[in-house]
Amino acid sequence: MASFFRRTIAAKLARTLQQPEEAFLPALSALPVSKRQQAADFRLSISALRTGGVLPSGGDTQAQTDGLASQLTPDTVLEAITAGGGWINFKINRKLLVQKMLEPFGNGEDERFGLNSDLLNALKRGTVLVEYSSPNIAKKFHAGHLRSTIIGNFIGNLKQSLGNSVIRMNYLGDWGMQFGLLGAGFAQFGCQEKLKRNALQHLFEVYVQANQEAERSEDMKQAAREFFRQLEQHEREALSLWKQFRDISVDEYQRVYKRLGVHFDVYSGESFHRDEAQEVVQQLRSRGLLETTEHGTSVVDLSPAGDARSVCVVLRSDGTSLYITRDLAAALHRSGKYSFDEMIYVTDKNQTSHFRQLFQMLLAMGHSWADRCKHVPFGLVRGMKTRSGEVLFLDDVLDEARSRMLHNMSQSKTTRQMDNIQDTAEKVGISALIVQDFKGPLLSDYTFDWDRMLQAQGDTGVFLQYSHARLCSLIQKNGGLESSAFDPSLLLEQTSIGILQHFLRYDEVLHQSAQDLQPKHLVNFLLKLSHLIASAHKELPVKGSAPDVAQARLKLFSGACSVLANGMRILGITPLEKM
Ligand code: ARG
Repeated sequence: MASFFRRTIAAKLARTLQQPEEAFLPALSALPVSKRQQAADFRLSISALRTGGVLPSGGDTQAQTDGLASQLTPDTVLEAITAGGGWINFKINRKLLVQKMLEPFGNGEDERFGLNSDLLNALKRGTVLVEYSSPNIAKKFHAGHLRSTIIGNFIGNLKQSLGNSVIRMNYLGDWGMQFGLLGAGFAQFGCQEKLKRNALQHLFEVYVQANQEAERSEDMKQAAREFFRQLEQHEREALSLWKQFRDISVDEYQRVYKRLGVHFDVYSGESFHRDEAQEVVQQLRSRGLLETTEHGTSVVDLSPAGDARSVCVVLRSDGTSLYITRDLAAALHRSGKYSFDEMIYVTDKNQTSHFRQLFQMLLAMGHSWADRCKHVPFGLVRGMKTRSGEVLFLDDVLDEARSRMLHNMSQSKTTRQMDNIQDTAEKVGISALIVQDFKGPLLSDYTFDWDRMLQAQGDTGVFLQYSHARLCSLIQKNGGLESSAFDPSLLLEQTSIGILQHFLRYDEVLHQSAQDLQPKHLVNFLLKLSHLIASAHKELPVKGSAPDVAQARLKLFSGACSVLANGMRILGITPLEKM
């Protein structure tokens, strides 16, 4: 609906300046809602028109602004047009604003609100492969894996709602020397019973014990090397134990991802590409890209012209492949299998140079699609701990979030009686985790803080859930009222207008997130929306108002509820109806 107004304004400008409508769309934006009453709804940037070549780039901006504004006269849609400071401001007819913005709700269009927009339709669509989470079997699931999981899920959701076909992939660390230790260690310390009961925990224990043992005993080291050799040579028994470890771990991960509301279309992993990795090395060699060092390792020279020499090792002296070699093979494999338009890798910033090298090598091999590969890096999290200590598994974090939230809910007077309080506490706790993580730029490091993230007031995931649940309960109490027709002239107070002005920004915010893949724009939009809704609850009561007023207000509240829920879902948060 924002699109309708944007297009109307662009059409008016197009007629006035004899230029195509499209030329004006990038220069138009909805004004952010502030405490002060906002007279205008959209503004046009004169400097953007100059950059876009619509207006001459020489000359006085103020004069250009005034000159253009004086040619524009109000009409039935635009009730006021004002100029100042390099901007032209447009105020939409109030009744029309209310009517148009609330039109999509209650017609089964709620979930698509804002998505059919010129701005979003101009974005490229296609097949997007998002690779995220990617933990290492038998090792710790650390904060970085949690971040990768929720960020990748957000990117997948965003891309999907913008009309792309999304492939969600988990690339497990399921190959390498750690499996030598694990296999050899299992013979000594392993227990099938424990493995079935709690796979991740047990494999981790065995791995730690085997490591300790290897430190003091040559025998264990030898056994580990031997087991890994058997794996690399595809010996049946070793391979079947490895497969059992992997299958059981994947089952366990799936259960925990489900708690988190995350899923994958493909569980891939380094093991899939162990043979292809050798083929890639051959390809590098035949293209003349491979050099052998004096230590016997094979490297690719990636030095930029005239700069210090930088090489990337792709083969150890014993002929075994490395992490990056398997990544090369995996990328080639995915390109052939999925012919994606875009591939996105989500990991912490420590792997930035790894991915730069990966993309460089692919380009050097002649694969121009490497330009459509992207690494989304994020910062480190300090202090992710539970009451019982360090976090080893994702389950531990989710359990802690649930039990802390349960405690807070039992202290709160507003908590309502409900059957599934455990489940509710868990979902709210997860929302809190997500919002804490998504509020700032992804690249920033932050300190994990249970108390702050779980505050009911303040800009938290708990606050978002609370706002949503409160709207649901209002709508439910007045069941049916909101679906019928309403009178727009009953929603002209600044409090309602403010909410609708905020709606005007929704597609812009999604557009911004699609550009830089940062969730903060959407998070801040939803927090602001929740604050506006909180004021509306006070200033626009439904209970005790005349029936037509109550009906109009309920229409506004149910629209707000839908926008909030839609945005939360894109972030990866399940909106709750009760809490
Ligand atoms: N398993 C790796 C780790 O835990 C992350 C994998 C990232 N993806 C990739 N294609 N290299 O560090």
